[in-house]
Amino acid sequence: MKFLRVALVGCGLISQQHIRAYQQQEHRARITCCFDIDPAKAAQRAGMIGDARVAASLDEVLRDPEVDAVEICTPHHLHAEAVIAAARAGKHILCQKPLANTLEECDAMIAAAHEAGVVLYYSEMNHTTPAAQEAKRAIEAGRIGRMSGVQATYSHWQGGEILSTAWRYDPALAGGGHLMDGGIHYIDLLLNIGGPIEAVTCFTTRFRPELGGEDTAVVNARFTAGHLGTLFSSHAAGIWLPQSNFVVFGTEGVLTLGGPHGALTLHRKDLPERREVLLQERGDSFATMIGRYLDTVLDGAPNPSPGEVGRENLRVVLAAYEAARLGREVRL
Ligand SMILES: NC(=O)c1ccc[n+]([C@@H]2O[C@H](COP(=O)([O-])OP(=O)(O)OC[C@H]3O[C@@H](n4cnc5c(N)ncnc54)[C@H](O)[C@@H]3O)[C@@H](O)[C@H]2O)c1
Repeated sequence: MKFLRVALVGCGLISQQHIRAYQQQEHRARITCCFDIDPAKAAQRAGMIGDARVAASLDEVLRDPEVDAVEICTPHHLHAEAVIAAARAGKHILCQKPLANTLEECDAMIAAAHEAGVVLYYSEMNHTTPAAQEAKRAIEAGRIGRMSGVQATYSHWQGGEILSTAWRYDPALAGGGHLMDGGIHYIDLLLNIGGPIEAVTCFTTRFRPELGGEDTAVVNARFTAGHLGTLFSSHAAGIWLPQSNFVVFGTEGVLTLGGPHGALTLHRKDLPERREVLLQERGDSFATMIGRYLDTVLDGAPNPSPGEVGRENLRVVLAAYEAARLGREVRL
């Protein structure tokens, strides 16, 4: 396959990022079709694209031989059914985070894609973000010595547009609170950079009574390799955290992602000015993700973010919720 004709399924907030990213890939892919349970939203997004058509149902999308792939951008509880149907229809799939609300659903989605021989790409832009890739290279090259810990902070206020989507604040539909919806982005970084997690503890709380689930969580993790990690995940803060939000500690040095010096900075006593900027610009992580997806589908490159990555992210989130509920450590 040389050119990918893509259908957007779910035309809400995040679909705009998908449209923007595909507009940068016009030589090899195009969103040709939009579907939303609310036809006005699909029509609005089709208008943004220009010549995309509006489909009347998911079934119509999946029966269309001129659709090669689907982007699943619907509420969390709808991911599994749509992904399985798309796989059975022979369409490649990019599915927004979280992959699903349960591990059983994830297993069925992964199996359906495998059986159909289609790509299932877990849409987590942090997974392929250039700073994460570069941080892994620096760690593998021994530049921080032995890793002792990782620390992530995802703290901001989600209001306005996001507050209008009621499903997000119903744990029965969203699968949980902010850890499931937002914190999961940093669970991916913890796993991608820190490696497999062996056990977690977790506390959750809520400052905004209008929300159904927790809006603030602290997850502590013990990694298989022996180091420790922590995530502070909250959308009860009045502003985005303006400094580094991911730090990797080592016996010889420290890596900071974000913050005042650049996208990725190595801090060591033996460096001039005690630091070296390894990556200045953060880059467009969403566009990078869509590019990597197209490399996989069109060029046969190894899938850097298969369904199994989403399953593992979800496994840690669910273990953290279980730990919070039981009030004790949960082993994975
Ligand atoms: N940074 C990120 O990667 C990021 C950011 C925001 C959201 N997301 C993820 O994207 C997905 C969508 O989130 P959102 O913020 O766009 O939500 P949203 O509520 O703005 O959009 C969801 C859309 O799905 C539509 N929809 C509902 N039921 C449907 C159905 N049965 N068939 C087709 N369409 C249906 C809704 O009408 C709505 O337009 C979620 O999985 C979310 O976690 C990812």
